[in-house]
Amino acid sequence: MHPIYEGKAKRLWETSDPMTLRMEFKNDATAFNGEKKASFENKGRLNNEISTLIYEYLGKTGIPTHFVRKIDDTNVEVKRVEIVMVEVIVRNVAAGSFCKRTGMEEGKAFSQPIIEFSYKSDELGDPLINDDYIREMGLATPEDLVFLRKSALQVNEILSGFFAEVGLKLVDFKLEFGRLASDPSQIVLADEISPDGCRLWDLKTGEKMDKDRFRRDLGNVMEAYEEVLGRLKARLAKETA
Ligand code: TMP
Repeated sequence: MHPIYEGKAKRLWETSDPMTLRMEFKNDATAFNGEKKASFENKGRLNNEISTLIYEYLGKTGIPTHFVRKIDDTNVEVKRVEIVMVEVIVRNVAAGSFCKRTGMEEGKAFSQPIIEFSYKSDELGDPLINDDYIREMGLATPEDLVFLRKSALQVNEILSGFFAEVGLKLVDFKLEFGRLASDPSQIVLADEISPDGCRLWDLKTGEKMDKDRFRRDLGNVMEAYEEVLGRLKARLAKETA
């Protein structure tokens, strides 16, 4: 068997149901558009657990997603979608490429969230694009973009609150969306949501608890992911108690 898609951190597999796929989380990590590579024991499991927990939480708040269920440590069942080739980035605090592009210092909190789009293309290094590019490239319609923006801001509200409750600042994150194979008129949240695609800073210490630990060689990468998972689990355990 071959995966129908293999990305830098995940594989997608067909199942007996043509409308359903299995998404497998790998232990591989990359940064700077694949230039820097490593593999971390347990990364697949940790990201799967964190992503599952977040998707279940978002599902409860009514956000439509591709998520169906967790299968095992490193696999989830998801609805088959055609990925919209636009990465939607939400920023609450200046960091990463925003600082590089603007010269602004890391850590400045924005008065309002910034939404940014990039073209999902490894070959081109995910370049920044805007609404006009997206329309002319035929990646999404202006109506789709209204929906993507609105959804991303909603997810930001929900997840900023969720992470704040466990002492983490949601600095920025990347979302992907897809059109349901069973009904392409419906766009849902897709891909994973994990410390690979989010910046999370400890509210008390400012410590980075995300993939920046790998990007910047800060060490204890999986320890940070484990800590994020532990806090989220403890928060959810309180809810059900
Ligand atoms: P950036 O500051 O490097 O543009 O990243 C913004 C956020 O998006 C950060 O939380 C990491 C995430 N991200 C991805 O998930 N995948 C990517 O390819 C890039 C460039 C960023």
